[in-house]
This record gives sequence, C-alpha cells and structure tokens, in this order.
Amino acid sequence: MALDVAGKTVVITGASAGIGRELALLMARKGARLALLARRKPLLEELAQECGAGSQAMAVQCDVTQRPSCQAAIQTVVSEFKEIDILILNAGMSMGCYFEDIKDLADGDFMLSLNVMGVANVLHYAFPFIPKVRGSRIVVISSIAGAIGVPFRTLYCASKWAVNGFCASLRTELEEAYGENAPKVVVSCPPEVATGLNTNRLKFGNEATAQFDEKTAASPTLAAQLILDAICEGVRIGFFSKMHAWLHSLYACCPSRIDKMIIDGVKKSHRAPRYGNM
Ligand SMILES: NC(=O)c1ccc[n+]([C@@H]2O[C@H](COP(=O)([O-])OP(=O)(O)OC[C@H]3O[C@@H](n4cnc5c(N)ncnc54)[C@H](OP(=O)(O)O)[C@@H]3O)[C@@H](O)[C@H]2O)c1
Repeated sequence: MALDVAGKTVVITGASAGIGRELALLMARKGARLALLARRKPLLEELAQECGAGSQAMAVQCDVTQRPSCQAAIQTVVSEFKEIDILILNAGMSMGCYFEDIKDLADGDFMLSLNVMGVANVLHYAFPFIPKVRGSRIVVISSIAGAIGVPFRTLYCASKWAVNGFCASLRTELEEAYGENAPKVVVSCPPEVATGLNTNRLKFGNEATAQFDEKTAASPTLAAQLILDAICEGVRIGFFSKMHAWLHSLYACCPSRIDKMIIDGVKKSHRAPRYGNM
C-alpha cells in the first residue's frame, strides 16, 4: 500500500528553491510536518510561512558541505520533531561545460563535496533518528544524468552516479540489518526541470555554461508530484517517464545506440557553446 505522508516528519535539504521548495509545498498540503534545510534562512522562513497553518514547518539553516552545520541542523530538527520519517537529500548544483573546456577544476571538488558528501553528511547525523520500519524513507534526488551519460556534465554525472551507487550499497546494508523493516531507499532521477539549477551552473573557470531550453523542461510542480509518487510507492529508482526507464535498462546492452540518442536529443534541447547556437 502506498505511504500516506500525513503526520510524517519530513526533512528536505535544498528546500529554499526549485524542486525542494515545491516538494515542501506539496507535502505541506498533504499534512506532513516539515523541516526545511538550506543555507538561505530568510527564504526558508518565507517558505515555512507559505506552507500554511495546516502544516508544522520549521526553517533550519544548513550547509550540507559542512559537517558541524549538518550535525547542528539535525539536532535542531530532532529537538522539535524527535524522529525523521522521510529524509529527502535534494541539495545540489550542476555544470554545463565540456571536459576539454574546463579551465578550473576546483569547481569539480566543490561539486563532489556538495552532491556526494552533502548526501552522506546529512544522512550520517540523521540516521539514528530514522525509525527502522518499512514506512521510513531515505530519498536521494539524483538525476537522469545518474543513470546514463550526458554531454558537458562529466563531473555532475560522476556525482550522480556516485549517489546512485551509494544508495545501492546502503539498501543492501539496511536489508541485511533490518530485513522486512528496512527503511526504503528511493532514488529519483529527474530529467531537466525548470529551476535555478539551469542558470546557477558551476562555470569551471568559463564565462558562460551550456543551458537547456526551459520550454523543454518539466515544471517544478510536476517534478514534485512525480517524486512524491516515487516516495509513497517506495520505488528503488524513480524515472519521470517510461522512455527514461527504457533508456536506463537498455544502456547496459546497447550503450552506443543510447549515446547517439542522447547526443541528438541534447542538441535539440540545449544551448551549448560547441553547438554554435548560443
Ligand atoms: N533542475 C533540474 O533540471 C534537475 C534535474 C535533475 C536533477 N536535479 C537535482 O535536483 C536537486 C535540486 O535541484 P534544483 O533544480 O531544485 O536546483 P535549485 O533550484 O538551484 O536549488 C538548489 C537547492 O540546493 C540548495 N543548496 C545548494 N548548495 C547547498 C549547500 N551547500 N547546503 C545546503 N543547501 C544547498 C540551495 O539552497 P541555498 O542556496 O539556500 O543553500 C537550493 O535550495 C539537485 O540535486 C539537482 O542535481 C535537478
């Protein structure tokens, strides 16, 4: 039976904008109790207000790359809510630069620290407070770029493939330790979603980055709904369409064909320096 989030305590990292913000609003409407984490506390406070009277929502400043900040944030959450039923590890950034055009690799260190260690850091402190029952969820917002290779996102793909592997390993550990009561580990793999991620891409020393045409992207509202569906169903890996699930499953047996489809598709949906369409 699908999970009902009403009354559940939900922690969302990267809740101040984009997908995290929409998830917060959607889950507030469903009656969840929310802890909203990100660096920009004023945005979180506005969001907590917006979540409305029907829902309990708290704004907690947290930089997921800084372990003391994660520890303090989780302490604040559990001093109020005691337990964390659903942990959504969503904070992240992207890039839009061909590997051979990278001028400064320092952005790569930052991206891996945010997209990979940011997940591990928050989970490390939250884990003791997650009830070890089937209804608990550990959710990682990965990307379609975590399931297949996409151009001008080498280190982004590396970070998202890394978190997919992290979750696959974690699932086996939970299964071994808690059997039927293992919390479900849900990996969501969105395609392009029209959020600030597109415009805030790390530049790796360049002036501009590749960007997608927002008309071809999913809305944050749709993204939040599809992610919530995956959470409630407790799926291992959630794609936004049958086509993406199909690309993922065929990647192992005919990777060259899938690569070609991706290159052609990305050329249509993205503006990138090498395509001469910037
Ligand atoms: N949009 C897409 O096309 C797309 C597609 C696939 C996957 N995703 C994934 O979805 C997730 C959310 O992306 P989005 O599209 O919603 O991006 P977004 O609109 O740019 O929001 C990113 C969020 O991450 C937070 N964040 C960034 N650095 C942080 C840090 N050090 N500590 C804590 N929070 C931090 C930001 O808050 P503060 O700045 O306030 O800290 C913000 O709330 C990311 O993991 C991304 O990779 C997005």
